[in-house]
Amino acid sequence: MSAFSTPLSRKLGLTYPLVAAPMFIISNKEMLLACAEAGILGAMPSLNQRTSEGLRADLEWVRSRTDKPFAINLTIGLTNPERREADVQACLDFEVPVMITSYGNPTEIVQRAHEKGITVFHDVIRLDHALKAQKAGVDAIIGVSQGAGGHAGTINPYALIPYLRANLNVPVIGAGCISGGEQVAAALALGAELAYMGTRFIASSECAAPQAYKQMVVDSTHDDIVYTDQISGVHANFLKQTIPDSFEAGGHDAARRWVDIWSAGQGVDTIHDIKPIGEIVEDIVREYHDAVKRLAG
Ligand SMILES: Cc1cc2nc3c(=O)[nH]c(=O)nc-3n(C[C@H](O)[C@H](O)[C@H](O)COP(=O)(O)O)c2cc1C
Repeated sequence: MSAFSTPLSRKLGLTYPLVAAPMFIISNKEMLLACAEAGILGAMPSLNQRTSEGLRADLEWVRSRTDKPFAINLTIGLTNPERREADVQACLDFEVPVMITSYGNPTEIVQRAHEKGITVFHDVIRLDHALKAQKAGVDAIIGVSQGAGGHAGTINPYALIPYLRANLNVPVIGAGCISGGEQVAAALALGAELAYMGTRFIASSECAAPQAYKQMVVDSTHDDIVYTDQISGVHANFLKQTIPDSFEAGGHDAARRWVDIWSAGQGVDTIHDIKPIGEIVEDIVREYHDAVKRLAG
């Protein structure tokens, strides 16, 4: 399958300009390895391990099996400061190739990461947040658009990606509803240098989601996705069927809500099967090349 690339994917040493985006509870070390072997960037939230020691064990596991790049996500404002510091230090000690910051100010993390030569991406839904992160020195901005899984934005990707690109000096990474190769081609056409895909990888063999969750992603359409701030306090997209009728906001432990109420984005429409990551990447690459060929006439 022939490789395709962008300046940012070449800088990172990826075969394809694709990221399996970090997903709370769902991403695991097996995904990081499978993505590395498939030539894309796998990412995992540091909090997917209960402790920083567990994170260190995962980093050691991945490091001993591949020298290809992978990423760890630090959810700054959602992580208690002591845990955050221990996780940042673990990433620095293992010289994790890419750190992805979200939900907070990345300034200090960027300074420390750059001292180790680590690349930092920062996740935003709006230009003003992107400009602050750019000022903090991040290497690329992830623009999370309307319809994305997790804490989605409200701006259509046709507007958001070109707008960020026109107003930033750093590369833009496109996120939200990219589940197949046609959407990857569209994101790159809009100026994104990487396609950041979460929901597609819920339906992967390697991921830690329960089988029923994977199957629900396959069986759902965008009509099954609800955008609400009632579950986690911040607007996010969830599978309607998993929201209890009498849900009481704040009535559950914050982390527990993501266990019982399943998140996915509108990109469920183009997900038809549960497969190993290597095969998902092959499908996406084939669809991408078909789309580009079709466009070329
Ligand atoms: C179940 C789920 C959990 C997520 N957890 C996180 C997280 O812990 N940190 C984060 O930065 N983004 C998180 N996200 C957002 C993804 O990293 C990514 O931005 C999003 O999935 C892209 O949109 P897509 O799902 O339409 O591909 C999550 C998304 C999903 C679906």
